[in-house]
Amino acid sequence: MDNKQLIAGELAKVIDSLDQDAILNLLEQPKSSELGDIAFPAFSLAKTERKAPQAIAADIADKIDSTHFDKVAATGPYVNFFLNKAEISGQVIKEVIKEGSDYGQQDEGKGENITIDMSSPNIAKPFSVGHLRSTVIGDALSNIFRKMGYNTIKINHLGDWGKQFGLLMVAYKKWGSQAAVEANPIDELLKLYVRINAEIENDPALDDEARLWFKKLEDGDPEATELWQWFRDESLVEFNRIYDLLGVEFDSFNGEAFYNDKMDEGIQILEEKGLLQESKGASIVDLEEFNLPPALIKKSDGATLYITRDMATAMYRARTYHFVKNVYAVGQEQSNHFRQLKAVLKKMGFDWSDDMVHVDFGLVTKNRQKLSTRKGNIILLEPTLQEAISRAKSQIEAKNPELENKDDVAHAVGVGAVKFYDLKTDRRNGYDFDLEAMVSFEGETGPYIQYAYARIQSILRKANFAPSADASYSLNDAESWEIIKLLQDFSRVIKRASDNFDPSLIAKYAISLAQAFNKYYAHTRILDDSPERDSRLALSYSTALVLKEALRLLGVETPEKM
Ligand code: ARG
Repeated sequence: MDNKQLIAGELAKVIDSLDQDAILNLLEQPKSSELGDIAFPAFSLAKTERKAPQAIAADIADKIDSTHFDKVAATGPYVNFFLNKAEISGQVIKEVIKEGSDYGQQDEGKGENITIDMSSPNIAKPFSVGHLRSTVIGDALSNIFRKMGYNTIKINHLGDWGKQFGLLMVAYKKWGSQAAVEANPIDELLKLYVRINAEIENDPALDDEARLWFKKLEDGDPEATELWQWFRDESLVEFNRIYDLLGVEFDSFNGEAFYNDKMDEGIQILEEKGLLQESKGASIVDLEEFNLPPALIKKSDGATLYITRDMATAMYRARTYHFVKNVYAVGQEQSNHFRQLKAVLKKMGFDWSDDMVHVDFGLVTKNRQKLSTRKGNIILLEPTLQEAISRAKSQIEAKNPELENKDDVAHAVGVGAVKFYDLKTDRRNGYDFDLEAMVSFEGETGPYIQYAYARIQSILRKANFAPSADASYSLNDAESWEIIKLLQDFSRVIKRASDNFDPSLIAKYAISLAQAFNKYYAHTRILDDSPERDSRLALSYSTALVLKEALRLLGVETPEKM
């Protein structure tokens, strides 16, 4: 039974002028837990009852049936309820034990589809921290939506098309070597790309050549296609190493190229509806009614653009997946693009465009400076993740040299640390990439929570504890009560994270739960002989279970020993 429902029910019995739902809406959380668990403010009754709110509060507190509560007291204009800790703690613990990892599972989604456009790096370019954010946020959202009962389709919309492939082909044919590309694909391809862009300044003919090669690619010329395929394959080998490290999988790698032959339909609809306008030879859609700059759909040479491919992509997803939401985990710098995309599709008459959500996120800095390849302020993902793992490993060596499978644990801790740090940040804010802070066992970090989890496992092992959903557990101290309230909150937090497309709510929840447990642990000798011992262990067990599940939603593992 929901605590607020219970209280509203009891209040409705003694308040005539408000029904239970109205009372439910008025209930608040007191400013501090010393004042009580839930408060009813009496202000709104003052008019009808023609009495001071203080007097009304005192009157209600007097009349209420307090058998379900530890205490009911009026404090000023509030009626404060102290819930029955002994009773509720037992109920909550039992529910967690009974449901196991299904605790918090909801059926809002009823199996409907949500597509998630995530990661989506560009072929022949380095995998950036922006792509890392997109990968980690998209993956967490997928887990959260699934916990809400949706089905998700994780799509890696690779940047594998565009004029830059023409440039790359020309550069490769002029200066490249197969061996060099195979040895270090992205590094080498990037060098070629940088070089041709520099040389074009003095030799504009290179640009025409590149356009020609891209045209060949678009027309399916075998040599161009083979080169493109090779660049793509080699780049994916590198990207896949990062995905393996991160433990992230995709349902589809359909990127921009996949839509190359699927753009006509959208353009045709625009033409039929008279939405395309000519502007200096190019075709645009006016978006003034949306307060947006016009969308450029086709260049004067007939070439399509990023947005043209995204239109085809969205139409394909609507048709293929019948999504209830089409989510794009992409950096803030593309906000305008997604606003325009949505607006164009809306003008085309697609109502599902209302279900497109740009889950945007802020920039990552390093040493508080903007990242810049040119200035050498860069984060190379693969070596950085390896570094996180090795730092985790030295901390484990120092703390627990006897630990079995140290490498697996170091992997879970190092990678988990980077992911957690990203996810605990409100996604619209950026953050400074600080490996030291990420892998620290202190502070609001992934390792802090993983450590709390492993500590509980060690307590449970020592006690040889076997949880039972039929046993009767009961606790009534202040520290365990904080944990109980958090455990009870888990489903609501998941729902809020899902509604707001915001994994940081889960991350913050996990931090609070780990902190509440550590406080409990500092106050209570869990293993001491006492009639409460089993209840304490059951509480610890339930905490660990929910911590593990919260971290799982974030894509972070929980080693049993650390
Ligand atoms: N490849 C793009 C980039 O790296 C991100 C693609 C995002 N997804 C999309 N459907 N436009 O900036």
